Amino acid sequence: MLDDILDYIEGIRERPVWQPIPDSVRARFHEAVPTDPTELAAVHDDFMRHILPFATGNSHPRFMGWVHGGGNVAGMLAEMLAAGLNANLGGRDHVPIEVERQIVHWTRLLFDFPSTATGLFVTGSSMANLLGALIARTRALGIDVRQNGLASTSKRLVAYTSAAAHRCISQAMDLSGLGIKSLRVIATNDAYQIDIDALNEAIASDRKAGFTPFLMIGTAGTVDTGALDDLAALASIAKRENLWLHVDGAIGALAIMAPDLAPRLAGIQQADSIALDFHKWGQVPYDAGFLLVRDGTLHRDTFASPAAYLRRETRGLAAGGHWPCDFGPDLSRGFRALKTWFTLKVYGTAALGAMISRTCELARYLEIKIATTKELELLAPVSLNIVCFRHRGENPDRLNAQIVADMHESGIAAPSTTVLGNRLAIRVALFNHRTEPRDIDALINAVLKLGAAATRKCVA
Ligand SMILES: Cc1ncc(COP(=O)(O)O)c(C=O)c1O
Repeated sequence: MLDDILDYIEGIRERPVWQPIPDSVRARFHEAVPTDPTELAAVHDDFMRHILPFATGNSHPRFMGWVHGGGNVAGMLAEMLAAGLNANLGGRDHVPIEVERQIVHWTRLLFDFPSTATGLFVTGSSMANLLGALIARTRALGIDVRQNGLASTSKRLVAYTSAAAHRCISQAMDLSGLGIKSLRVIATNDAYQIDIDALNEAIASDRKAGFTPFLMIGTAGTVDTGALDDLAALASIAKRENLWLHVDGAIGALAIMAPDLAPRLAGIQQADSIALDFHKWGQVPYDAGFLLVRDGTLHRDTFASPAAYLRRETRGLAAGGHWPCDFGPDLSRGFRALKTWFTLKVYGTAALGAMISRTCELARYLEIKIATTKELELLAPVSLNIVCFRHRGENPDRLNAQIVADMHESGIAAPSTTVLGNRLAIRVALFNHRTEPRDIDALINAVLKLGAAATRKCVA
């Protein structure tokens, strides 16, 4: 099994990025519950023939869609070790939890947070953003809100983020009981960053109308275009207005490891909480989301739920004071920290930072290619590693959607699409450490070829 999966990774470039799933393969996954045993080798054979070839393909250097990291072999092997240990990181006194605490400590250092800051592995930034909103809610309403619920308060809490924020931010307002309408969606400027003047006006007008502003969510790397909000400006507004500043750094926070990019994150060090994903730019195999919180006491006060069967002792396996289950809703938790620890130790932050910078250079290379190809046009400024563009042909929304679908089915590359100012864009997000300039060339050639073919088909 190990040989096969290493061969898969070694030869990934020669495979199609993705391929359509034949009905016969899909049908295999509608089998009855297996009451009888099957040989391990036969199950593995099934995996090799019917699962592996039809995966998403995000380890492939020409996977360029959505926001998917490429994974890495050290992290993969660590995942195997973690599964063998079968550690449960909800709590208790064992070194796997020290490994997670080590990552919390390293993350504190990366973002210049105090030693009292806390952190927690979660599935992804959708969850980390939700937990950040819940902690901000505790700060605004007091810990009693956990007993009495939102109905007990007369405060009308409102939060702020930009129109370019990820959909999980409004979902966090929904799930935290505050309601989607309590999120003020502030317009963006031409660079897709939150408009600071509009933000100031919205806060002032809410205060005048009797609302209680409590939370501001800045984005370090927006999902559509990779724009970085002006985090330093947000930090100073948060201070002036006494708001909780949460940074959704799912995409961009780890650029802190790249010396050329880190200055553009200035202000993130003043956030109250940061959501980030080691499984995106950090190349840790899925999933490895993370939340960092400046006020560790408030973090714990928001989630800790004592129970007799989780009693802490001063010695034995139940020792250890605060356990990870005190910092979030999960009690059973896997050993996500190990694959992150291996990745950080085996490669080091200097090499990871250089890889992050390289993906931004590739984005600039693509930007230049687009600028010098008359059939193509850029649809948004390139801030980090995301490029939005389109083919200029007839009926461009339909044409570009068709190009992307045809490209997926061809197996050549897998960008995704988004809509910017009512225009459908081909969206290329370069998160894979295996991607090279020749992959960008292949993408451009395919867009031109498929664009010409689709246009010919339309005319015929
Ligand atoms: C800016 C941003 N925030 C949050 C998320 C959600 O992260 P996850 O998919 O890890 O839950 C994403 C996902 O792409 C994102 O791009």
